[in-house]
Amino acid sequence: MGKQLKITETVLRDANQSQIATRLERADFADILETMDQAGYYSLECWGGATFDSCLRYLNEDPWDRLRFIRSKVKNTKLQMLLRGQNLLGYKHYSDDTVRAFVRKSVENGIDIIRIFDALNDPMNMATAIDECLKAGGHAQGAICYTISPIHTFESYVKLAKRLADMGCNSICIKDMAGIISPKNAYDLVSAIKKEVDLPVVLHTHDTTGLGAMSLLKAAEAGADGFDTAISIFSGGTAQPSTESMVYTLEEMGYDTGVDMKVTKKINDHFKPVQAKFLKNGGLNPSVLTTKIDALNYQIPGGMLSNLISQLTQMNQLNRLDEVLVETPNVRKDMGYPPLVTPMSQMVGAQAVSNVLLGERYKSVSKEVKAYMRGEYGKAPGELSQELMKIALGDEKPYEGRYDDLLEPEIPGAKAYLGDLAESEEDVLSYVAFPQQAEKYLKDRADAKALKVSYTIQEAE
Ligand code: CO
Repeated sequence: MGKQLKITETVLRDANQSQIATRLERADFADILETMDQAGYYSLECWGGATFDSCLRYLNEDPWDRLRFIRSKVKNTKLQMLLRGQNLLGYKHYSDDTVRAFVRKSVENGIDIIRIFDALNDPMNMATAIDECLKAGGHAQGAICYTISPIHTFESYVKLAKRLADMGCNSICIKDMAGIISPKNAYDLVSAIKKEVDLPVVLHTHDTTGLGAMSLLKAAEAGADGFDTAISIFSGGTAQPSTESMVYTLEEMGYDTGVDMKVTKKINDHFKPVQAKFLKNGGLNPSVLTTKIDALNYQIPGGMLSNLISQLTQMNQLNRLDEVLVETPNVRKDMGYPPLVTPMSQMVGAQAVSNVLLGERYKSVSKEVKAYMRGEYGKAPGELSQELMKIALGDEKPYEGRYDDLLEPEIPGAKAYLGDLAESEEDVLSYVAFPQQAEKYLKDRADAKALKVSYTIQEAE
């Protein structure tokens, strides 16, 4: 038997998020979960990322209940989630009590593996989540956001991998959210980390620039222990490379993935009509399926580029795009080269647009950039421009220590505010994570129940 390669299927989370804006409803996958459990996947990435927000905001589903349902059908395969460190599943830093309770409840409700990352690759923003995951008995996977900049050297990534190992992580993920890692860099980076860190290494990439499958193959040759792939009908483009194609290739080359292609066929057959439905209702825009090479030319993620284009189009300023694309790396440099992943990609892009359209750099500095310069998002990877610091903060001094230490506990206040509306600690956590969406969901749920009770009373009359 050849070297084992663990396959993580992403159709329920990342492929769902990347191709159809996280709109898979429970009914779209409920009937195939037991089959998915038989496929031989190492894990199913099925929760976290945008799924939580989407359940409350668009799908009228309780995200915790979705997780428990998946767990009830998937008894053997590990369940995996993506967590934005101290940002949990949101866009701001939460207090430590929230992070600990959220992580603990995720494990209690069925998650086995938590992939934890931070947009700045600041280990202090990941520490609380990693610690609590391990205490709760979960597998903590420390993720390194892959980006390209003068300060993001292989040495810096290896150093972070070592730090994550020291913090107790059970495995390391190279998280290439933009799909810009090249086959050669995938090979070299996996080799470099494997040489220094005695933990399984997983490569996560997207097929946006068409490099995905090649990079996975080179990572396998360098000794990677696992990959993320998506069932073929939901693979490619902005999603992951196809599960079946990778399994076919790897098995032929003597690797052992454990994945049964007879079962993946059933899974793919199940998702074919689901994909057709999203194509028909416009939920799946075919343009996400094509190869977008711009991310390589501009070194910015495809999603960020399309956001810039739509922002400028709305303002009737699309003719300024080239100037914005020149300004974007300058802003990023001034901000110490943050990886362009949520929420940094939005922050850098919006500031570049403002610098160009107002005709003067930093004439207006956004509230978010000010908070970032103050240290509210953690430590910048590189040096911050003193000029920008002065414009953003004036005489105010940035935080020296860990900003999260200043945050007050959030759960007691939320509990008191919700009262009877919250039926569980999970409800309280939903509210702390997404106050507006969760409150609406909880109210609708209470109304539906009240209606049911009144029907029952009428029937009894
Ligand atoms: Co991803």
